[in-house]
Amino acid sequence: MERIYFTTPIYYVNAEPHLGHTYTTVIADTLKRYYQALGYEVFFLTGTDEHGDKIAQAAQASATDPKTYVDRISGIFRSTWDRCGIAYDHFIRTTDPYHKEYVQRILRKIYDAGDVYFGEYGGFYCYGCERFYTERELVDGKCPDHQTAPDYISEKNYFFRMAKYQERLIDEMKSRPDIIRPERYRAEVLAFLREPLEDLCISRPTTRLQWGIPLPFDSNYVTYVWFDALLNYVSALEYRGGDSLVKFWPGTNHLIAKDILKTHAIYWPTMLMAAGMPLYQHLNVHGYWVMDSGKMSKSLGNVIRPLEMKERFGMDAFRYFLLREMAFGQDAKFSVEALVTRINADLANNLGNLVSRVLAMQQKYFAGEVQPLSAAWAAEDMELRDKFAQAERELHSYMAELQFHRALEAVWSALDHANRYVVQTAPFTLIKDPAKQPRVGAVLHHLLEVIRTLARLLAPFLPDTAKELRALLGLADDGGSINAPWGQGFTPGHKINAPKVLFPRIESEPKK
Ligand code: MSP
Repeated sequence: MERIYFTTPIYYVNAEPHLGHTYTTVIADTLKRYYQALGYEVFFLTGTDEHGDKIAQAAQASATDPKTYVDRISGIFRSTWDRCGIAYDHFIRTTDPYHKEYVQRILRKIYDAGDVYFGEYGGFYCYGCERFYTERELVDGKCPDHQTAPDYISEKNYFFRMAKYQERLIDEMKSRPDIIRPERYRAEVLAFLREPLEDLCISRPTTRLQWGIPLPFDSNYVTYVWFDALLNYVSALEYRGGDSLVKFWPGTNHLIAKDILKTHAIYWPTMLMAAGMPLYQHLNVHGYWVMDSGKMSKSLGNVIRPLEMKERFGMDAFRYFLLREMAFGQDAKFSVEALVTRINADLANNLGNLVSRVLAMQQKYFAGEVQPLSAAWAAEDMELRDKFAQAERELHSYMAELQFHRALEAVWSALDHANRYVVQTAPFTLIKDPAKQPRVGAVLHHLLEVIRTLARLLAPFLPDTAKELRALLGLADDGGSINAPWGQGFTPGHKINAPKVLFPRIESEPKK
């Protein structure tokens, strides 16, 4: 059996889940469902990143001890994903004892192998990024990400010999053109690697920070949060036991946004090399969601929260927008207006209307009973089937490239065709002529095949809707006839249920 492993970043617990976290988590969930339907064994990991300055400061700001604080926010992440129907297989916390033990084991291993040394280092430290910046990386003396002036810190620390692995890393990146997708991010990494790499500072003195994993070889230091966090991708598999690591590691697909490219494309692979492990299969990098008002932030009051979106529009509608609107790899704009427009046009009108029209006719003309197909199909019937077969082929090739928006576009193009087929075949007119009743039965049968195909194709993207469609079609939940070829999904006489509104039209933007 083929296997694949999807990971999201483990999210910092200094903020509650928002649109950005939700996007990465939703695409991981979509990919899991998609690959499972293809017959793969899939493992999907998400979780929370709980150590470091940033978190210690957030705990202090909320006047709680770090452990109580991280328990609370991590719990919010987990319950949010549960309530959003995210089918993760394991939720890791970097404060979990098995993770801490694993980090110490790897540190000991690379220390014993001579890849760690003690030295003095002075540099510009950004607390937001939790890392040192070189002077050349700063923009007008400020961190390019946080626009704040970093502190100059000079202290003794432990260093990982990252520079030693630079050539090997360049070779890997060059010899595996799809290791980082889309290509532009690999190019960015290779450009960065043209300059000499510095070694990586992997410790923080306990005089400055206690909230971290103690170094196994010096209790006066805790582990740098990124060194701790990146190892989650392996510690979780180890923890699952059995042969999880051996089984899933070769199919590792990390999903991240461009903000953490460097840590995943440089720190992480060199750490893996030092630990004697093969690199991931793919690092998949998406762009940023931006608001009309600019960057999403608490202070601007424009933070989009997943549970609020679910409440207002339904989880599937929200998922649809995220998957349809962003071209993977590029930035995308989020606005409630654009979301409403998409829901109305694509879900309420196009999909919703087709389903309710077909099911209403099926009830009205045949009391819900599926009629036989004719022995010879009309040209337009075959065209309809072919259009969906083409959409399915396109969907597969787009999914292989993580082009979710194109995959959905392909399905919606077939859906447009199905709506035209209704107009072209005009069952509502034909039914007036009793002699044409068998043709009406056959046309509706083909349209039920459209809905059955949609239930299958849309399942990874819109899981609740797909389930609803199956229920409306009276098809069991356990696979079965959902995968049958066109024309073989229903036996004549099978009972179809009465229509139901899948996506109510949103007349005006509801007020919060
Ligand atoms: N804790 C680190 C990751 C460690 S992984 C070993 C971290 N956490 S984070 O909470 O800041 O999450 C960053 C990730 O959240 C991004 O890479 C992306 O997956 C998601 N997003 C957060 N804001 C985003 C947008 N505005 N747009 C898209 N996704 C972004 O970094």
